[in-house]
Amino acid sequence: MKMLIIGASGQIGFNLCQALAGSHQVTGTYFSYPMPDMYSLDMTKSGTVTDFITALKPDVIFLPAALPDVEACEKKPELCRRVNIDGTRNVLAAAGEIKAKVVFFSTDYLFDGAAGPYAETEPSNPLNMYGKAKNEAEQLIRQSTCPHLIIRTSVVYGYEKQGKNFVVRLNERLRQGEKVKVPNDQFSTPTYVNNLCAIIKELVESGKEGIYNIAGPELLNRYDFAVLAAEIFELDRSLITPVATGELGQQALRPLRGGLKVDKVRSVAVTPLMNVREGLIDMKKQWSGIAAVKTIPALVR
Ligand SMILES: NC(=O)c1ccc[n+]([C@@H]2O[C@H](COP(=O)([O-])OP(=O)(O)OC[C@H]3O[C@@H](n4cnc5c(N)ncnc54)[C@H](OP(=O)(O)O)[C@@H]3O)[C@@H](O)[C@H]2O)c1
Repeated sequence: MKMLIIGASGQIGFNLCQALAGSHQVTGTYFSYPMPDMYSLDMTKSGTVTDFITALKPDVIFLPAALPDVEACEKKPELCRRVNIDGTRNVLAAAGEIKAKVVFFSTDYLFDGAAGPYAETEPSNPLNMYGKAKNEAEQLIRQSTCPHLIIRTSVVYGYEKQGKNFVVRLNERLRQGEKVKVPNDQFSTPTYVNNLCAIIKELVESGKEGIYNIAGPELLNRYDFAVLAAEIFELDRSLITPVATGELGQQALRPLRGGLKVDKVRSVAVTPLMNVREGLIDMKKQWSGIAAVKTIPALVR
């Protein structure tokens, strides 16, 4: 199939490229972080988005592109809406013109965190700007006439070139001997990016539509996740201090008991969900060979 990944320079988009490029014709785009063999695309520019998509005519458009920085969204709500909602609307309009399928990426931040983990059918009630914008963007996708698949996920970690995710940052700070405060009252279902992308590939190849949660199978708090990561990466766990979320001085409210239930995806996917220990061990293996970062095979330009 001909596939377009908008936001292929990000954590999930880059790993999706790697997962799909061996068996599909894949084109990737970046926004501010240029990557070899990818095109520049700003999804907030509707004319450019339409021109690009209607010229390429992909069968499937993956849309991991977003402004997922929760604090940035709270501080800059207009930018948050422009990228996360208007950008999604632009891509949907162009996809409609060529009748492409849209694969959208969503989050457990749709929920208020009163009683996670959450199933696909539970009502949303986002607490912060990021969650509200993703919720609204999801509604656009669900109401559109384009065939669509919505992937909801939670605290994604793994190797990534831009090094933005929690485990990569924790690694860097602990290696420098820095003390790190991590909340022990924020629960989620951490998800290993390679495992996530392998399952997305399966769902897309088998023509699935609708909403699927794809997340790790364990609910754990951020502090326990950090301590496990320190153990696997052989770093000094005594540098990690557990704190309450309220002590971090963050502007955006966090859903405290978040995370996603995974019964639905387990009932259809052959690839097993990796638990956090398995994911971290695989990430370490990948990272140790990272001096020679894998190039993406057969990426179309
Ligand atoms: N990571 C998580 O823990 C997590 C959890 C739940 C849901 N999600 C969802 O999964 C998706 C991907 O997350 P991620 O971790 O891969 O995020 P990420 O690493 O921050 O990647 C975001 C991507 O969006 C691109 N982008 C930003 N602004 C853009 C614009 N105006 N036009 C076009 N592209 C733009 C970025 O390009 P540049 O980097 O080149 O600027 C990057 O490729 C998001 O929709 C997020 O809401 C993520």
